Amino acid sequence: MNKIVVINNKINFFKKKLINVDGDKSLSIRFILLSSLSRGKCVASNLLRSGDVNSAINNMKKLGIRIKAKDDFCEVNGKGLFGLKFKKNLVLNSENSGTTARLMSAMLSNSNDWVKITGDRSLKKRDMGRVIKPLKLFGIKFKDNNYKLPIWIKGPKLLKPIKYIEKLGSAQCKSAVMIAALRANGKTKLKCMPSRNHTELMFKNVLKIPIKLKKKNNYDIIDIDGMNEFNKFNYKIPGDISSASFFIVLTLLSKKNNLIIKNININPSRIGIIKILNMMGAKIKFFKKKNYKGEPTADIFIKSNRNLKAVNINPKLNSSAIDEFLLIFLVASVCKGISIFKDLSELNKKESKRLDWGIKILKMMNIRIKKIKNNGVKIWGNPNLELKKTYIIKNFLKDHRIFMASTIAALTFGGRWKIHDANCFKTSFPKYLKILNSLGAKIK
Ligand code: S3P
Repeated sequence: MNKIVVINNKINFFKKKLINVDGDKSLSIRFILLSSLSRGKCVASNLLRSGDVNSAINNMKKLGIRIKAKDDFCEVNGKGLFGLKFKKNLVLNSENSGTTARLMSAMLSNSNDWVKITGDRSLKKRDMGRVIKPLKLFGIKFKDNNYKLPIWIKGPKLLKPIKYIEKLGSAQCKSAVMIAALRANGKTKLKCMPSRNHTELMFKNVLKIPIKLKKKNNYDIIDIDGMNEFNKFNYKIPGDISSASFFIVLTLLSKKNNLIIKNININPSRIGIIKILNMMGAKIKFFKKKNYKGEPTADIFIKSNRNLKAVNINPKLNSSAIDEFLLIFLVASVCKGISIFKDLSELNKKESKRLDWGIKILKMMNIRIKKIKNNGVKIWGNPNLELKKTYIIKNFLKDHRIFMASTIAALTFGGRWKIHDANCFKTSFPKYLKILNSLGAKIK
């Protein structure tokens, strides 16, 4: 059902100074998939229970894995590297979750019959070629339709190790290769453009897989020895920096507020938005830093500040802020000067064409924004931005991050906003509207 959210008022003083956001999506999906391949009962706490994670759970259940999930607590009974069960004419549905579709594609190779993977309207438009190409080199068989879902996958049981260079800086692509490498008879060698490294950290620190990690020039080098079963494990999932980012930007752009966001994953491969906002002058701070199985966490402190300056961002930061660019564009809209962001083509490969949508939303707000070569953008900030008109956001692919970023624009810049598909935030951040309301946002 197309629920519409109406926002006619900016947010005032927050009613709270401290919030918790939902668990990290990348880590929650990795927990579900990798625990299914472990030997024994694995337990997670603070698991994200969003649409994307539920689709990973439902698919593993269809593959014969027993999973008990209650609220944010979850028990998975892993069956080992070769333990998944494949019924005839099996159809797995990843709904909106690119991470589930791509990582799961690497897990189905010991099926004798074709297994179908499909997804929703948005996922069916996304590129599966980036995982099909390397997975075929392992010997996995595919039937596909121009590298788009639905695809069909089957055997052989034993894979041959590969050497592969990942040039997109895609963590999903890297992780799919790493998961297939678990069932390869020998050493897989990967050279990748940097991207979030949660799979590497889990393999090394949690699953204790024989893996070597090195940095060479601009690449991450990953060597994995296959055919090593791994034991059950437990995992406490920290808060998601991508979800926290909506409240970081809300606080920054609102008047006279400050906020602490508790226990957030601050892995350096995820905190591009913090680095970029601090370059703009935001002064975001980390407190109570901890390390959990190789993943750094902290409480984040942020206060309002509209005295921000434009930045010219090195595209090396892009992958660490890949899901946050809509928010970064909103902040650039009020920075003094001209901000420049380069090489953003991957943004148009997400749940919807986020680069095009970012440009469209800023233009609607009367902000000067221009596309430059290689999918970059220039944004002419207006520190006095104050919106008065009516703005209607209707993203036909129901992109959760476009919905949430639009609500932040509405609550900080003013105007009357009608934002369609108000249920789609449940894909990644089911508590989103509840937390906004608890801070005092007036949302109809
Ligand atoms: C993810 C990787 C990113 C990100 C997505 C989650 C992951 O995509 O956009 O939301 O969990 O591995 P890329 O594979 O394009 O880096």
